Amino acid sequence: MRTIRTGRAIRAWALERRESGQKIGYVPTMGALHAGHASLIRAAKRATDAVAVSIFVNPLQFGPREDLNQYPRPVVEDLRFCRQEDVEVVFLPHVREIYPGNFQTRVRVTKLTERYEGQSRPGHFEGVTTVLTKLFHLVGPDRAFFGQKDYQQAVVVKQMVRDLDVPVEIVVGPTVRERDGLALSSRNRFLSSPERKAAGALFAALTAARGMLRTGERSVKKVLDTMIRRVRDEPLARLEYAAVADPATLDEVRVVKGRVVLLLAVWIGKTRLIDNMVIACP
Ligand code: PAJ
Repeated sequence: MRTIRTGRAIRAWALERRESGQKIGYVPTMGALHAGHASLIRAAKRATDAVAVSIFVNPLQFGPREDLNQYPRPVVEDLRFCRQEDVEVVFLPHVREIYPGNFQTRVRVTKLTERYEGQSRPGHFEGVTTVLTKLFHLVGPDRAFFGQKDYQQAVVVKQMVRDLDVPVEIVVGPTVRERDGLALSSRNRFLSSPERKAAGALFAALTAARGMLRTGERSVKKVLDTMIRRVRDEPLARLEYAAVADPATLDEVRVVKGRVVLLLAVWIGKTRLIDNMVIACP
């Protein structure tokens, strides 16, 4: 496994791979790697010839009152993790490599970023799409792999790639969960043991809503009420938003028909967690 720190060197690696006819798979991450990331790395390995993982805690996607400085950076463990997953290249750039002085450009997807995470975290998606534009230019992957865990992010990235003709195929892998259903997240490590138990409320709320939809409930209000109540029943949890939306446009639906996505953001103490579920309604 090679660790590459400069844009120049990652470009040279990718060029070499492409010239020998190989397809490049790419998994962008912010590190603190877990089984969710591993599932994307494995999907990339199955679908392409040479896999690059980037580890870059992107300051541009954190708000001024967010957890940029607290965000975990276990670099030694992450490199060991990638070696165990038999990753070919880890791109580990310094902040100045990605954002040299006098950096002035932003890439922004408009409508899709107005709600949910975009509304709760102003500037967040602009940070994500700006860094990914740069990373896609540097790595030049044939396919890039994202998790359904960050549902809106995957939809926004697909839109950006389509709108800007970025020559990469976006592949979305399923959410990897703990035994009790909690979606794996780098932020789960901040939860105390009672908070960890309380965090089960997200999956419980989603499965309760899924149960209603599967058995024919079509009232968005009733489904939302159930999700909200399930979160409110948990004293350590504070709901930020719950929504029933169209899986493609992310518009909130008025009547449930066909496929919907349930979106949830919940604070557990000082830790903000998100989760979602796509449901095909009979
Ligand atoms: P990060 O939170 O490290 O996530 C990297 C990728 O792993 C994302 O595509 C995310 O959706 C996926 N992922 C996280 N938890 C997962 C889980 N439990 N199951 C499946 N996939 C999971 O998302 C980012 O980093 C950043 O915004 C980034 C795209 C790297 C841009 O900076």
